[in-house]
Order: sequence, then C-alpha cells, then structure tokens
Amino acid sequence: MSNYSIGSRIELSDGNKMPIQGLGVYKMTDEEQAINAIQSAYKFGYRLFDTAQMYGNEEAVGRALQSINADRNEIFITTKISEENQGYDGVMKSFEQSLKKLGLDYVDLLLVHWPIHQHFFETWKAFEQLKSEGLVKSIGTSNYGMIHLEYLKTKANEMPVVNQIENHPYLSQAAMVEFDKNNQIVTQAWAPLGRGRIFDDPTLIKIADNHKKSTAQIILRWHLQRGISFIPKSVHENRIIENGSIYDFELTNEEMMLIDDMNKNVRISQEPEMVYEIGHQYPHG
Ligand SMILES: NC(=O)c1ccc[n+]([C@@H]2O[C@H](COP(=O)([O-])OP(=O)(O)OC[C@H]3O[C@@H](n4cnc5c(N)ncnc54)[C@H](OP(=O)(O)O)[C@@H]3O)[C@@H](O)[C@H]2O)c1
Repeated sequence: MSNYSIGSRIELSDGNKMPIQGLGVYKMTDEEQAINAIQSAYKFGYRLFDTAQMYGNEEAVGRALQSINADRNEIFITTKISEENQGYDGVMKSFEQSLKKLGLDYVDLLLVHWPIHQHFFETWKAFEQLKSEGLVKSIGTSNYGMIHLEYLKTKANEMPVVNQIENHPYLSQAAMVEFDKNNQIVTQAWAPLGRGRIFDDPTLIKIADNHKKSTAQIILRWHLQRGISFIPKSVHENRIIENGSIYDFELTNEEMMLIDDMNKNVRISQEPEMVYEIGHQYPHG
C-alpha cells in the first residue's frame, strides 16, 4: 500500500485495471456543481468517476469529461443500470442512452445497480453481450450478497469482476468482503465515509489525532489497507483534495483492528434482499 497514489490501478480478474480510488457523484444534480467537482478531482489526480442512470447526472458527467479533454484510456467511467431498465432489452436500450449522455463510445465498468428477482439472468446476459461488443470493458454488480452471486454463477458465462456495496466502519461486511476476494471479485465501497455521519466517533478522532489527519482520511486509509476500492463523494474542492491525500501515512495493525471493531452492522441505505424481493428501491430513512 505504501507505493500507492491517487491514480494507482488494481488489476481486475478480466485483466482490466481500475483506479483503486474514485469520485462518487450521487446527489450532484446541479450541473455546474458536478462539473466543478469532477474538474477539481481530475486536477488533483482522480481518474475514476462513478455515476448511475438513477443519479440523473450522466449528461453533466459527460460535459465535465468533455471539458477535461483527457485521453480516453486515462480515465475510468462507471455507470449503473437502474431497476426499471433491467431485462435484456431494457439494458440494451437504456445503455445506449447512457453512452449518448456520457458522450462516450464505451464505459469502463457497467454495474447492475441492485439485484432484483425479475429479469435476474436476462439482465446479466445483456451485460455479457455489451462486453462482447466492446461497449463495456468490465461488468460487475452492486449490492449483491453472497446468495445473489452464487445464484448468478449457476447461469453466468462470466462472473462480475467488481461488487460495489455499502461499506464503512459501521458496516464493514467482513464476511462479504472475504467472499468477494475468494471469488476474484474486487469489493468497492459506496458510502465509504458513512455519508459523513460517523466523523465524530471517538475511536476515529483518537486515531486521527495520532496521525494529524482528519477522520475522513483515517476511514479512507482503512479501506485502502483492507485492500478494497472506494469512491467518496464531495462537491467541495478542499474535501476532494483531503480525501485524496491518504497515501503518505499508514495505520498500524492495532489501529486497523480498532476500526474493524467499530462495526455495528448498521445500514444507511436499503437492504439488498428486500430490494430483490420488492423489485425496486423502497423509501427508507
Ligand atoms: N451502488 C449503490 O447503490 C450506491 C449507493 C450510494 C452511493 N453510491 C456511490 O458511492 C458514492 C459515495 O457514497 P455517498 O455519496 O453515498 O457517501 P460518502 O461518500 O460516504 O459521503 C458523502 C458525504 O460526506 C461528505 N464529505 C465528503 N468528504 C468529506 C470530508 N472530507 N469531510 C467532511 N465531509 C465530507 C459529503 O459532503 P459534500 O459533498 O458537501 O462535501 C457528503 O455529504 C456516491 O456518490 C455514489 O457514486 C453507490
């Protein structure tokens, strides 16, 4: 981990390489704000940008990418298929729209946003097809539990190379992370900062004092040292820089264990098994 920097890539099991850290853009619905955040992140060295059909900002991401004018293979773009667009035809049609909005010829990573029981296998068949056509370089899942991945395995020709799940010190999902690892799937943490709600945890504050770092930086360094990918969101340039400045210090084994022990199995968002049953995301607090 000591040789890592903000743009460092890790190898996926399909041979492609993905930056370990990225910028999440959920809730960046103001176009100018999204463009400014992506430009700031790019300037600082972020190369992975994580959007979704559901976020309603693929066009803004596309405009930001245009303004950056980077070499296409220098940046890594993830988008996700919404529940209502699942099914073979739904994926194909909606993905075409996503590409258009993003202004791209291909995306680096396409994720199934949530597992749902309808179209479970057809959705994945479309993903395999898009990959074979080169329109998507890597295919993955989001919010899949072990049971969903095992079920997918019964019919899939290719397995997901990334599984993006809610992950932060209050929901560390150690068993799930281990399962992904044993199945050559990279775990990517969403809400890696616990959506900013856990910064005043005394354990984190103490460790942050030890290193003269912020609690946000301690959390992100914990993800890095666990060997998982992470995509914190911020619209503020100073925080984008702060979140990317985690490659110049190291947590001790004891500090890592103290953060592991903070797990409360508390979710911020939806329960994947419920979304699977209901077929769409449901209102939650
Ligand atoms: N696959 C899925 O189902 C799924 C679900 C949710 C999210 N995601 C992805 O994961 C990304 C990250 O998750 P998230 O946005 O839910 O939560 P997060 O990254 O854990 O936290 C974001 C919140 O923390 C604040 N923040 C960020 N850095 C900070 C810092 N250094 N100091 C203080 N506050 C800070 C942000 O505020 P400001 O913006 O005001 O700075 C924002 O309110 C999303 O943007 C999205 O791309 C995926």
